[in-house]
Amino acid sequence: MANNTNQTGFSHEKVETSNFLMIVLILLALLAGGMVEIVPLFFQKSTTQPIKGLQPYTALQLAGRDIYVREGCYNCHSQMIRPFRAETLRYGHYSVAGESVYDHPFQWGSKRTGPDLARVGGKYSDVWHQVHLINPRDVVPESNMPAYPWLEKTLVDAGVMPAHMKALRAVGVPYTDEQITKAGNEVQGKTELEALVAYLQVLGLALK
Ligand code: HEC
Repeated sequence: MANNTNQTGFSHEKVETSNFLMIVLILLALLAGGMVEIVPLFFQKSTTQPIKGLQPYTALQLAGRDIYVREGCYNCHSQMIRPFRAETLRYGHYSVAGESVYDHPFQWGSKRTGPDLARVGGKYSDVWHQVHLINPRDVVPESNMPAYPWLEKTLVDAGVMPAHMKALRAVGVPYTDEQITKAGNEVQGKTELEALVAYLQVLGLALK
């Protein structure tokens, strides 16, 4: 017994045979590791400051983003390009934190039934997106993405936009009073399809 006692007289067996001591020490190790990894992120400019030229979503893009969240597009699409060669060759520059500081909540995700969408903006025409969303099989015959035909028949709820943008301003998105007052007019009469496409078309363009 206790033949693993080292010169300091400390027996590792004490830790291994005491549930209490083991739990306390594991928690301490996790706490220290967590602090070292997570706390600095709150103070690094690269994770808290928007990248140069990043604009908050316009009212129409924001409405589109809400539809993206409502329809659960994130269940199949991530918006985070990892810094690996296979990813950057396929999708472009890897994602940086400063691109999504105005995103509440962010849409990074990790589930990829479909491709990553972090830089899909500008990859296709608006019409391609419209046709694709109404019925993906019309442009990609082997696609198993669901069809969203109701988006072109439903109008964006313009009434909620100003309050929505005010709420975002409260958490740091720099909307001006003017943008907020004009928000309702900007989305008035637009379909959900137009809003969603406006959102998709701006994804990933801020990073030069
Ligand atoms: C069940 C999984 C699934 C869901 C949910 C889903 N998609 Fe897809 N998506 C796919 C797959 C698979 C592809 C690749 C085939 C294709 O282009 O249709 C794709 C492709 C795409 C593309 C083309 C990407 C590229 O680079 O070629 C866009 C844009 C897109 N989806 C947007 C959306 C949006 C917006 C929603 C929500 C309204 C959505 N998807 C929901 C599976 C999904």
